[in-house]
Amino acid sequence: MLKTKIADIRKEVLQWKKEGLSVGLVPTMGALHQGHLSLIKQSLKKCDRTVVSVFVNPIQFGPAEDLDKYPRTLEADLELCKNAGVDIVFAPSQNEMYENTPHPNPPPQGGREQSRLSNDFFTYVIPPFFYTDKLCGKSRPGHFDGVCTVVMKLFNIVQPDYAFFGQKDAQQLVIIRKMVQDLNIPIEIVSCPIVRDENGLALSSRNQYLSEEGRKQALVLNKILTNIRACYNKGIQDVKALGETAFAFLNEHHELEYLEFVDKNTLENKTKADDDTLVLIAVKTDNVRLIDNCFMK
Ligand code: PAJ
Repeated sequence: MLKTKIADIRKEVLQWKKEGLSVGLVPTMGALHQGHLSLIKQSLKKCDRTVVSVFVNPIQFGPAEDLDKYPRTLEADLELCKNAGVDIVFAPSQNEMYENTPHPNPPPQGGREQSRLSNDFFTYVIPPFFYTDKLCGKSRPGHFDGVCTVVMKLFNIVQPDYAFFGQKDAQQLVIIRKMVQDLNIPIEIVSCPIVRDENGLALSSRNQYLSEEGRKQALVLNKILTNIRACYNKGIQDVKALGETAFAFLNEHHELEYLEFVDKNTLENKTKADDDTLVLIAVKTDNVRLIDNCFMK
């Protein structure tokens, strides 16, 4: 069930299509956990065949980010997928994804942002600045260019009917929906709710970097969001007032990167919260950057 070559996966999917079977794709960077598994389960339920891609995509990491230390656990990932009933795990090499071109130099880490400096030869998918110059995009320039480019490649390689993404990465999900709409991609995007551990911490491959104390401090994200939602449900709508409630939870172990209130479909900033408002937070604790979000309702 492991495929590493684009030609091989294409052949298999073509056969499925000939048989009239529907295909679901779950794009991941591996180090699979229960959050990823929930996407996989949705795909297995909805589609006749399920492909999980495992590819740590260098062009969505900034030059100073954790590309080298990002967890790579292919054996365990394959086991999890096999037990779940996944049909194909597509785990291409970097060479297979980026270097089989007439100009064999790969696009640089940091994607298009860095390509200006290194003058690489690669075509990127660039989502609109309105969606990318805020929230995570602010501290991660070029990140969403790298995400959209690799997701577009995966869509073209696998040609699924459905693709599954987690609400955990809310900005990524909105941007991918926008790309699908703007570029008329014939794939239905399915969003899946955030999976949390028993303490409320949103599962993430990066949680592995946290120390025991860091894991405790990391609970602050969900605590702040839960409290904001409770305040909203009591009738507070002013975003400034809602935002200020966060300070009661933050201590010297936390570095708040952003806490923002936006429209869940357009990412437009809100001054007054309503049921369509999405609250997003990013906090650095224990030297690990964590994100979380919730809807008001
Ligand atoms: P990765 O971080 O591996 O996440 C893969 C998918 O799993 C994403 O859609 C993400 O939102 C979802 N996911 C992660 N943690 C989750 C949780 N706790 N609950 C629900 N869903 C969760 O996101 C990426 O990879 C990459 O940017 C990718 C889209 C694969 C492009 O390289």
